Amino acid sequence: MCGALRLSDAGKKVVLMGWCNRRRDLGQIIFVDLRDRTGVTQVVFNYELNAAVHEKAEALRNEFVIAAIGTVKRRDADTINPNIPTGEVELVVEELRILNVSKPLPFLPSDTVLANEEMRLKYRYIDLRRDAMQFNIELRHKVALAIRDYLSSAGFFEIETPFMTRSTPEGARDYLVPSRVQPGSFYALPQSPQLFKQILMISGFDKYFQIVRCFRDEDLRSDRQPEFTQIDLEMSYPQPERVWEVVEGFLTAAFRAAGHEIKTPFPRMDFDDAIRQYGIDKPDLRVPAFTDVGDCFAPADLEQLAINKDLPVIAIRIPRVGELSRKERDDIKPLFVSKGGARVFEDFKRIETKFPEAGARVREKVRAKTGAAAADDLLVLVVGSVQSGATGDAHPASKRKVTPAELAIYASAGLLRVALAQKYSDRHKLFQKGDYRFLWVTNFPMFEYDEANKRWVAAHHPFTSPHDEDMDKLETDPAMVRALAYDVVLNGTELGSGSIRIHRQDVQSRIFHALGMTDEEARSRFGFFLEALEYGTPPHGGIALGLDRIVMILAGADSLREVIPFPKTAAAKDLMMEAPTPVAEGQLRELGIQVKK
Ligand code: AMO
Repeated sequence: MCGALRLSDAGKKVVLMGWCNRRRDLGQIIFVDLRDRTGVTQVVFNYELNAAVHEKAEALRNEFVIAAIGTVKRRDADTINPNIPTGEVELVVEELRILNVSKPLPFLPSDTVLANEEMRLKYRYIDLRRDAMQFNIELRHKVALAIRDYLSSAGFFEIETPFMTRSTPEGARDYLVPSRVQPGSFYALPQSPQLFKQILMISGFDKYFQIVRCFRDEDLRSDRQPEFTQIDLEMSYPQPERVWEVVEGFLTAAFRAAGHEIKTPFPRMDFDDAIRQYGIDKPDLRVPAFTDVGDCFAPADLEQLAINKDLPVIAIRIPRVGELSRKERDDIKPLFVSKGGARVFEDFKRIETKFPEAGARVREKVRAKTGAAAADDLLVLVVGSVQSGATGDAHPASKRKVTPAELAIYASAGLLRVALAQKYSDRHKLFQKGDYRFLWVTNFPMFEYDEANKRWVAAHHPFTSPHDEDMDKLETDPAMVRALAYDVVLNGTELGSGSIRIHRQDVQSRIFHALGMTDEEARSRFGFFLEALEYGTPPHGGIALGLDRIVMILAGADSLREVIPFPKTAAAKDLMMEAPTPVAEGQLRELGIQVKK
């Protein structure tokens, strides 16, 4: 292979096959960096040594595929390339076979400047030849393999579940597949194997896993693809802690495969605490939590500053950002998204300028309370306006212990905290490569209130078990019902979600009821499942993690597209295959489908 040769191979006769990565023609001597997925070797065509081969080599161009047969030679001391593992040797070519030619390329794998994303995706096969992509795809393979090995050794069976199935409610739209044999009927591609894995517990496969493709028609972002891969697992009789232990085990194996040691067990945090300290259910622990500094203000100060005294007064602290210039203060304004009634003082400085007296009085107290030891820590305040009777909002905690108005402040502060941390990452340097802060977020609320449709919806999915001690509130006070649900979070990204499931038919029916489903609806959508629950279902629970997200973080990439070989664009298009496409009239007719333009 092109990455294999070392000094100890000098004198050997070898054959290398690969792509011409780069070609330098010095007249009498032509150098080609020959590349395959293992690396590059310099191959040399020397006119003096072999005129015929040299002449043939003149035809070589970028990305031609060749076989070079020759002798490995130690490079002269002054031509050694310390940057590549094969840099001490070169191959002096005695015989050249051009296995294939290449047209001039839209961009080169060896280019240092990246082609634009559209080109990269249209010519994905060329883009994938780049070192970085080869690295990411290999990393993906290693991570998946380590996880498979771990779970298999821990007694889990990998079991495949169907892609042509019916809708599983995970909160997105379904991709549908029309049935030819039963015109007018559709399969749905699975949003997850949720119901199948639960059925597998009923079937006695008490430890199941699958590295499995899932399909969701939802708005895409950098960490969302319409088809993505889950590490999906389910087990019988577990406490949540047992599921967490398994996840911590396979993540340790996966990160080790990528060259990182991680610490277990991961810290755990109650959902309510996550909201109060970070304003978000997937806190990035690398950045300090925010602080309620309401008690640092005298009532008169609050009044003067028009701050609502009944709502949290949140101070966000980002270390070492330094004092902001006027322009910088203007720059951070757009980062603030007010979730109903929340206001922002972009920089503590502005309070001090505008209200010198009040500002001076609280400055030291706020600094002390937030732990802002250094003078160059950035402090930003998010507060409620006096007139704010902030309305509810679709956030998971709505109508819970945290009131919607409080939540509006926490959520606004949470978003701003993340935006500021990202904007100033080069100053605070809290985002260090290889710093992995995992976290379990637990005790999610069971239901969220959907303001638009005026009904309760399942915060995780409707098969999640409520806490035993909250069962009596199912009908009377759904907002207060906690779920046996948990998320695993890494550096502010949700890696996975899971729960202990409902295993009793009567409880499952009550949940469907609480979600506003009539018996009839529940029977028609999930009748098969409700029936299965009646035939001796063991208690069970599990989780699913996004493989793409794990690899993305390990690769240090900022989009899933960097770790998925053939991803879709934000418009859910495959630019290489040019999918989706219209189909022939005849095909539609067979399916009994008419397309309305
Ligand atoms: P959930 O819907 O939270 O749970 O999904 C689990 C994990 O899958 C990943 N993920 C995605 N990754 C990329 N693109 C997407 N569009 C996408 N959607 C989800 C995330 C997420 O944390 N059946 C339940 C799991 C269970 O209860 O066991 C489920 O699918 O990393």
